[in-house]
Amino acid sequence: MRALSVSALLLLALGCCWGTQDNFLDEDVVEPVIQASKYGSLWPLPQKVQISDVPLKLSGTTFEFTDAKGSTAGASCSVLQNAYRRYFDYIFGGPKKQKMSRNRRSGPTEVTELQVSITSPDSQCDGYPGVTSDESYELSVDAPVAVLKAPTVWGALHGLETFSQLVYEDKYGAKTINSTKVSDFPRFAHRGILLDSSRHFLPIKVLLANLETMAMNKFNVFHWHIVDDQSFPYLSRTFPQLSQKGAYHPYTHVYTPADVKMVIEFARLRGIRVIPEFDTPGHTQSWGKGQMDLLTPCFSGAAPSGTFGPVNPILNTTYDFMSRFFKEVSSVFPDGYVHLGGDEVDFSCWKSNPDIKKFMDEQGFGQDYSKLESFYIQKLLDIVTTTKKGYIIWQEVFDNGVKLKPDTVVHVWMGSGSDAEMNKVTTAGYTTILSAPWYLDYISYAQDWQKYYKVEPLNFNAETRHTYPRLEGQPGTIPERDGKNYLGRVPDPAVLSLVPEPYLLRPGLAEPLQGRPAGF
Ligand SMILES: *[C@@H]1O[C@H](CO)[C@@H](O)[C@H](O)[C@H]1NC(C)=O
Ligand SMILES: *[C@@H]1O[C@H](CO)[C@@H](O)[C@H](O)[C@H]1NC(C)=O
Repeated sequence: MRALSVSALLLLALGCCWGTQDNFLDEDVVEPVIQASKYGSLWPLPQKVQISDVPLKLSGTTFEFTDAKGSTAGASCSVLQNAYRRYFDYIFGGPKKQKMSRNRRSGPTEVTELQVSITSPDSQCDGYPGVTSDESYELSVDAPVAVLKAPTVWGALHGLETFSQLVYEDKYGAKTINSTKVSDFPRFAHRGILLDSSRHFLPIKVLLANLETMAMNKFNVFHWHIVDDQSFPYLSRTFPQLSQKGAYHPYTHVYTPADVKMVIEFARLRGIRVIPEFDTPGHTQSWGKGQMDLLTPCFSGAAPSGTFGPVNPILNTTYDFMSRFFKEVSSVFPDGYVHLGGDEVDFSCWKSNPDIKKFMDEQGFGQDYSKLESFYIQKLLDIVTTTKKGYIIWQEVFDNGVKLKPDTVVHVWMGSGSDAEMNKVTTAGYTTILSAPWYLDYISYAQDWQKYYKVEPLNFNAETRHTYPRLEGQPGTIPERDGKNYLGRVPDPAVLSLVPEPYLLRPGLAEPLQGRPAGF
């Protein structure tokens, strides 16, 4: 079984990567070497790029994005129409002026049109991106017509981004694009950024700016770590007292249902999934303020100390609350997955509480409090299963031996031993997200960035490299380091709160990958 799951995992890795060129920073180089990239400003580097030396011109008065004849998405496709306006703006620095172009003749080396063709019967214009979305695209830039083909709108969005990155100004300031061919698809289906809006409340405009930046970098998952010990800014319709009491401020520091909707739609228009995380049973101090009896009362000797610990796992009311709460969450957030947390559960309060001790005895758990944690998580997973969502859990839940559904996604975050953990989780057959090497809050100096680009997420298994030598020579996921296109486009100040989690490995889906390398 082990060998089988390892090889299945690899097929995926071979099937999909945003960049495979070998021009990665040399291990021994301490100072980064600054030089012009032969790929211009492309970021991340597409799978296949051929940029010719033939410069073509673009002009804001003649150029337009159009829907190709035969495209399954047309004028009613909000995702594309919105993207056309956005990218016109990026490229020409302002909105298109209508009907200016009628009589202007275009030169033989001018690109006047980018025709966008969605090729699969279901363009997904009105849907949401998901873990199985096909994000591939092919772009051919020529005069007078450039062509972008993609099976779904999600791939077309990436193609439009690539097109915009190919445009530069010549020495006279004229918009220029070289004749180019690009064929691209992502290496990993899940390329995420975690933002924590509990420890610090993040205003909506910061969230939207992050989504914008993610789209420019072809990230496709916003992991919204929306609540934690410090505050509960999510305004629940079912339990409004949670944010009323648990937010930093009940009106100014909350996300209303309208706010959440706006974030989700803004993300959808950029091909980004929004996965909320409601972390329990630990990290829940803020929940206790608005929900009586949800948290465990801690004891000091024989008397309650007045402080509270993790969610109280021995009360039926806890599970009634969770059922109603996650029912709401499942209808508010359209994505197929919800993140259930489960990390860093502190057992000391449970240990102090005589009712919990009694329950432990009744259940035959002895002194093993991870069994109590598992008891809670098991019931929570059953509750969430009834909402028809898939779930993601932090690695401790797997480590503690909780019985998991085979399609559970295990999120590896702990810095030490993450290779061994990846090995364990994938060998057990679970889909995995790896975040451990990319905690961006550890960056204290610019040079620190280098190591983040050198991580090869599939290097956790020596057997892997041995069996599949083609994996070697893919030293990094973002092989070009082009300062101009990178930090210049990341809006301050949110960058420090980003934790990317680009790696979702799907060991079970090797077969379809071979025939359809892009969206798996
Ligand atoms: C675009 O073409 C010009 C020549 O017109 C060439 O100097 C330049 O290197 C090309 N750009 C890229 C990124 O290949
Ligand atoms: C909790 O629910 C279980 C199963 O429905 C029941 O057997 C038990 O008596 C309930 N406990 C309390 C304290 O209500």
